[in-house]
Amino acid sequence: MRRLVAQTTVHASDLIAPLFVREGIDAPVPINSLPGVVQHTRDSLRAEVSQLAGLGVGAVMLFGVPATKDATGSGAFDPDGIAQLALSDLRAEVGDDMVIMADLCVDEYTDHGHCGILDGPAGHPSTSVDNDATLEVYGRIAVAQADAGAHVVAPSGMMDGQVGAIRAALDAAGHTGTAILAYSAKYASGLYGPFRDAVDCQIVGGGDRKAYQQDWSNAREALVEVQADIDQGADMVMVKPALAYLDIVSAVRAATNLPLAAYHVSGEYSMIKAAAANGWIDHDVVALEHLTAIKRAGADVILTYLARWFAETIGPASR
Ligand code: PBG
Repeated sequence: MRRLVAQTTVHASDLIAPLFVREGIDAPVPINSLPGVVQHTRDSLRAEVSQLAGLGVGAVMLFGVPATKDATGSGAFDPDGIAQLALSDLRAEVGDDMVIMADLCVDEYTDHGHCGILDGPAGHPSTSVDNDATLEVYGRIAVAQADAGAHVVAPSGMMDGQVGAIRAALDAAGHTGTAILAYSAKYASGLYGPFRDAVDCQIVGGGDRKAYQQDWSNAREALVEVQADIDQGADMVMVKPALAYLDIVSAVRAATNLPLAAYHVSGEYSMIKAAAANGWIDHDVVALEHLTAIKRAGADVILTYLARWFAETIGPASR
């Protein structure tokens, strides 16, 4: 009877698996703080994505980890950059059977670790980002990712005007069919720690992202950010992280009829893994509880490192 009257169901096809591909490695490298997740080689990534497609997972979100970094994050738009090479591998592997998304940011590619290029004179950069100079770089990344085969580009850098700049750059390059999933309401969270290990990112001087990511004290601000992205052409919007921000998920759900994503981020995943490894909680129960709660709050799709576990252990649907 509980199943009969259940009001929320999680489907494998609702899930987007974040995946990492690293340049210059011969075998997958485990990520210590993200148990069960690895930095892939191009070959192991291809195998993983074909298995995820076979399991019915809805989409993948690709992050590149380059061998070298520089001030402008040029590896992010190099046609031979690791993410672009991997995107074309994936399109060749799964074609249009699965949605291929590319995270669009420079923090994995910059030597200073910020999500934008820094302002200040050459050789003496400050530690604040130059918003508008970064938009130009984001446009180049979007075109490189679409050229390589991404169905969806997903700007995660929280620069003002990024969705409009990316839409214009894509359209000008003829990529009118490439969609934009905007990381619209992204908070300056402590829960991204394991992710930064996954992409080898340290912010210079122990800095933070508070100048461009949102303050966790603010809820209404999220609606302003979401509306700005919609006005600029976002096809889907996102709230990130998920569990501590379910009020935001719910408010954004009420404010838009666009598809809404929530990102169950690295720290949320690793907390489950660590507590379960200690025998303090039941992994499968808590993992399903988290994902169901995120959908109950109003998300249509969930980015989660649990995607493979869900499809293998729970199946195509939770009920
Ligand atoms: C930035 C980016 C981050 C994550 C996704 N994209 C890190 C950050 O903003 O510091 C975090 C994802 C996670 O923690 O799982 N490009």
